[in-house]
Amino acid sequence: KKNEDYVCSADVVSRRDCGYLGIGAQECHDRNCCWDPKQNNLNAPYCFLRQHSCKGYGVSSATTTANGVQVQLDLNGGSQGCARFGEDIPRLKVIVDFETKSRVRVRILDRERSRYEIPASALPNPQDTAKVIGKLDYDFKYTENPFTFSVIRRSTGEAVFQTKVPGKDSLVYENEYLEISTALPDDANIYGLGEVVSGFRRDTRGTRQTMWARDAATPVDENVYGSHPFYLEMRNGTAHGVFLRNSNGMDVIISPAKLTYKVIGGIFDFTVFLGPSPADVINQYTELIGRPHMPPAWAMGFHQCRYGYTNIDQVETVVNTYQKEDLPLDGVWIDIDYMDKYKDFTFDELRFPESRVKKLAENLAATNRSMVLIVDPGIPVEPGYGPYDSGMAQDVFIKNKAGKPFEGRVWPGQTYFPDFFDSNGTWSWWEQHLRETRDKIGPNVFPWIDMNEPSNFCNGECTSGQQTQGQPQTPSKQEAIVNSKYSINNAGRQAPLSEKTVSEDAVLKNGLSMYDTHNLYGHMEARATHQALTNLLPNTRPFILSRSTFPGTGSSAAHWTGDNWSEWNHLYFSIPGILSFGLFGIPFTGSDICGFIGNTTEELCLRWHQLGALYPFARNHNTLGANPQEAYLWPTTVLPAARQALRIRYSLLPYYYTLFDRASRVGTPLWQPLFFQYSNDPLTLKIDHQFLLGDSVMVSPALYKGQIQVKAYFPGNGRWFNLWTHECIIEHDSHGGHTSDDRSHRYKFLSAKADGEPIPMSIAGGHIIPIQAPQNTVADTRAQPVSLVIALDESGNARGEVYVDDGRSLVNSDSARVNFEMLGGEKLVSSVSMNQDAKAAAAGQSFQSRVGHSSEIEKITILGLNFARAGGESGAKTVFKASTHSWKSKVSECHEE
Ligand code: NOJ
Repeated sequence: KKNEDYVCSADVVSRRDCGYLGIGAQECHDRNCCWDPKQNNLNAPYCFLRQHSCKGYGVSSATTTANGVQVQLDLNGGSQGCARFGEDIPRLKVIVDFETKSRVRVRILDRERSRYEIPASALPNPQDTAKVIGKLDYDFKYTENPFTFSVIRRSTGEAVFQTKVPGKDSLVYENEYLEISTALPDDANIYGLGEVVSGFRRDTRGTRQTMWARDAATPVDENVYGSHPFYLEMRNGTAHGVFLRNSNGMDVIISPAKLTYKVIGGIFDFTVFLGPSPADVINQYTELIGRPHMPPAWAMGFHQCRYGYTNIDQVETVVNTYQKEDLPLDGVWIDIDYMDKYKDFTFDELRFPESRVKKLAENLAATNRSMVLIVDPGIPVEPGYGPYDSGMAQDVFIKNKAGKPFEGRVWPGQTYFPDFFDSNGTWSWWEQHLRETRDKIGPNVFPWIDMNEPSNFCNGECTSGQQTQGQPQTPSKQEAIVNSKYSINNAGRQAPLSEKTVSEDAVLKNGLSMYDTHNLYGHMEARATHQALTNLLPNTRPFILSRSTFPGTGSSAAHWTGDNWSEWNHLYFSIPGILSFGLFGIPFTGSDICGFIGNTTEELCLRWHQLGALYPFARNHNTLGANPQEAYLWPTTVLPAARQALRIRYSLLPYYYTLFDRASRVGTPLWQPLFFQYSNDPLTLKIDHQFLLGDSVMVSPALYKGQIQVKAYFPGNGRWFNLWTHECIIEHDSHGGHTSDDRSHRYKFLSAKADGEPIPMSIAGGHIIPIQAPQNTVADTRAQPVSLVIALDESGNARGEVYVDDGRSLVNSDSARVNFEMLGGEKLVSSVSMNQDAKAAAAGQSFQSRVGHSSEIEKITILGLNFARAGGESGAKTVFKASTHSWKSKVSECHEE
């Protein structure tokens, strides 16, 4: 039809092809279609179908509630509405809750029928928030016709979320298609939205982030293992965050000046966080979705793994060689190789006899180290195999449409998939089998939950007779036009939702379908596993590594960025990966050190140990068939570099521990992008090859083959010191207030030779960090006295803290938090707040022995004593005298060169 009801939409991503590759303008017009050959990087067709014009919704009534406002919406334009991908829902309700001073929630629901929402069992749902006392940081405003809304930061009057966007539909709400947009500044600074392998700052010229959990070997810019519909935006030095609480498949599209959500189910349920600092946003976000868990101390050490250790002897040799070569190691991992025919909870009696695995676990336990065994969700369909029999008896498996257990195929062959949404039956069945492993091997064995997207070697259901299906074909253009459902950009090519996973029409016990809950599968498995370990090991912190994640998974599990490649660009990608998971509330993340797929090289593996030793989760892992890559295999190059790197990690353990504690209380990630601390410096916004460890230490790694120096940017106006040589790298700029153009003097070349030099690390003036003499296990390191590195700012001040507890209990009766403050270069003050186990203390047991951590301070190193004093005197000075401890101080000065 050619009338005003049908328009040429300006929305590039919604274009549906009306021609063929190579069609010209004339033929396109003859077909009564729209022609727009402007180049774009989203592969949109030039000739595309007209769309029904969409007039949105109008407000029919509005009421103020105790804590917000409710608005009723009616569809404009009669019953036809937008008809984008189905029928429009005629009557909607908008519920706005002013949940806290800095957090507002906006839900848009069908007024007449309930729709799928994420169950509270998967993600806590703050239904009844108390009335917020005091002033809000935001205003909520809306327009009546068409209905659009905005969340405005009161202090600046700026709309941080604004659904009135030129050229975009105001609101589309259909059964399997929801669309809304928010206006952005021209070249917005958006971070988050994942999981993805990409740069940290998202490209505003055309990013299409699909959320559909997917087992794929880390292709760049496609949807992979987890789904995180959350972003943080920096605007003029101020941060806000936006979370869409929705587990359905979706595309989030960032294009110049706007961000659009296209979601294939559920509801719109936005929470906007007002910050104003980036750390505030993550604090507010993790308060909502769940704080990151506090890992056990041993898990903060180094881990060694590979797929393809052929037998237990080999694993023992690896452990012994680590010891012999004086390399720290705390976690010893065995991949699916240990299982009998890849069946969970079994042991291959020839290659990995249970008794030998147990013996190794016991040896590790004797040195306070641990073992991690992989466990996959797919349970083989094999009567007589315990977990299958018990699973059938207890009815724990996901069902197909016909009500039979859904059958797929993973490592062991034909498999069923546990329904982890059933938090009674399935969770106790899972616990029962995890208990068996623990009973067999010991209490220091922890699970690595892999393949939980869930991964399936078939596209949807397949029975044993069927061949494993290959890649499904992309539908032909004709089919795409006829099939009017919105196709999310799964796998970068609108692949079917069931590709390599459980079909979307499979059903759970609670009646929900995988269509709605697919993205939550790994998250629910992590929750089930966490609950099981908590039951099995009372008051002991669980350790779980999960591949698939969702908002809130950080409360239960650590994460790694999946099957990366032994290639230089993947060394770099690990930084944006870890920084993004810091925003997602999963700071305990790492990437496979030396790379998983392919053969690493000596130089790459050396560099990867240098950087990887600093990953919050640090593990060397390798795939089946690839050349071995333990550091000691290159005795004169990678080995000494790895030894040095791991000693750096272990010497920083009290700092890591303190940072993990903070993450678990207020969400602050361990690895921070530079703008977390230097929000007003626009040059920090695009930097993702350097990062901060905590607030104060900056890491500037070598990331390229043959690189011998790093051009590093030193943000802020303060001083920075080389953490290793203690030299001053850059002085304080007394004139301050630079614009982005005159900061070239804050770039410095740092030496980063591969033969003996540690990874470039710098500490900012004004900070104190705790360190310990590194030993080869976390437990031994904890027993070493603590030393402090104090980097003074230009006024001679610095502060820092250290948190200590027993490193393993969920609830600690013994803990100490010590704040250190150095004032004017003259005085170091410490204030201690402690919890003590009164009984143990009364029995004469020292705090130190109760927590297994030294409480002595051995050495203090002061950097930059030549700060400018009010009195004029400057220069180096030793300010400490021996008191009860023997202080050894070292002095360094801050000169520009
Ligand atoms: C896939 C995982 O991503 C990888 O780390 C593991 O080694 C293999 N599965 C085998 O279990």
